[in-house]
Amino acid sequence: MKILLAGGAGYIGSHTALALLNSGHDVVIADNYYNASPEAVRRVEKLTGKPVTLYEADVQDRDAMMKIFKENDIDCVIHFAGLKAVGESVKKPLFYYRNNIDTTLTLLECMEATGVKNFVFSSSATVYGAENAIPYVETMHRGSCSNPYGWTKYMMEQILTDAVAADPDMNLVLLRYFNPIGAHESGMIGEDPKGIPNNLMPYISQVAVGKLDHLTIFGNDYDTPDGTCRRDYIHVMDLAEGHVKAVEYIADHPGTNIFNLGTGTPYSVLEIVKAFEKANDLKIKYEFGPRRAGDLPEFWANADKAKKVLGWTATRTLEDMCRDSWNWQKQNPNGYRD
Ligand code: WQD
Repeated sequence: MKILLAGGAGYIGSHTALALLNSGHDVVIADNYYNASPEAVRRVEKLTGKPVTLYEADVQDRDAMMKIFKENDIDCVIHFAGLKAVGESVKKPLFYYRNNIDTTLTLLECMEATGVKNFVFSSSATVYGAENAIPYVETMHRGSCSNPYGWTKYMMEQILTDAVAADPDMNLVLLRYFNPIGAHESGMIGEDPKGIPNNLMPYISQVAVGKLDHLTIFGNDYDTPDGTCRRDYIHVMDLAEGHVKAVEYIADHPGTNIFNLGTGTPYSVLEIVKAFEKANDLKIKYEFGPRRAGDLPEFWANADKAKKVLGWTATRTLEDMCRDSWNWQKQNPNGYRD
């Protein structure tokens, strides 16, 4: 199949491009490089030995996107072109709503105009909100999100579900990611956050490489086994392979299908720090600080549906995730700017 990856030069998009190419699919990428780099795509080409059709384009730009749809015979779209920093979304909500909703509408309009019927969406466990019991199951209703970023995912899921309900020929897969970490085992592609990282693993990696002095663990007084928050961390290559399964499933399965992409096993912040130290034989300086606003104490996936229906399951261990994150960071201390 020929797959358009909107926002495909970012962290998850680039790993998914690699997995799709290695599974024999063709990849077209549109990206404005806001939080991404054309260098990631060049490295994907190098690793796979296969070409990617790459466009520098803003996915909100309908004319630019129509041109891409007309020049390529697209079978399926995967939408990664979202802004994703929780804290930034609280400070700049309009920027988040404009980008995330507009990119979704533009892709749907281009698909309608050119007859493309398959849409895979990069969603998030954040849509389960605070109300649902853990582990999260796909049959649960979406809950209240604690920040604008989360609400954009919630709203995009709704927009897509409505669009698909109105067209019996359209197929939609919503992939709800848990906490993606790690990098391709080569260390040639990985996560390259702008500025000081918000997320745990890039922060730990930058402490390890000496760019940051120490990690602050946000709260150690939660009602969890060691007092720190627990999350379902998933290796980005497992996540990427989940997209391949979704793309190969979607065309024969009309309507909306939702899948959690997680491992089903939670780890605490302290467990992640200890696992990183052990896997890479180094020490991470850390201290405990206050809780971060909006953090839930713990959540993880029920990952049974993806296993049963897609035949997908996460196979990489926490040790793999820690080793590969560090392998990427130490080879690329300044990300793609090296
Ligand atoms: C994990 C744990 C922190 C940094 C968010 C989004 C989600 C997804 C990933 C975006 C938490 C703790 C973190 C630090 C810490 N989307 N932590 N010190 O908050 O679970 O999920 O990012 O890409 O939709 O909601 O991920 O990596 O920020 O935090 O103690 O410096 O690490 O409190 O318990 P989170 P995270």
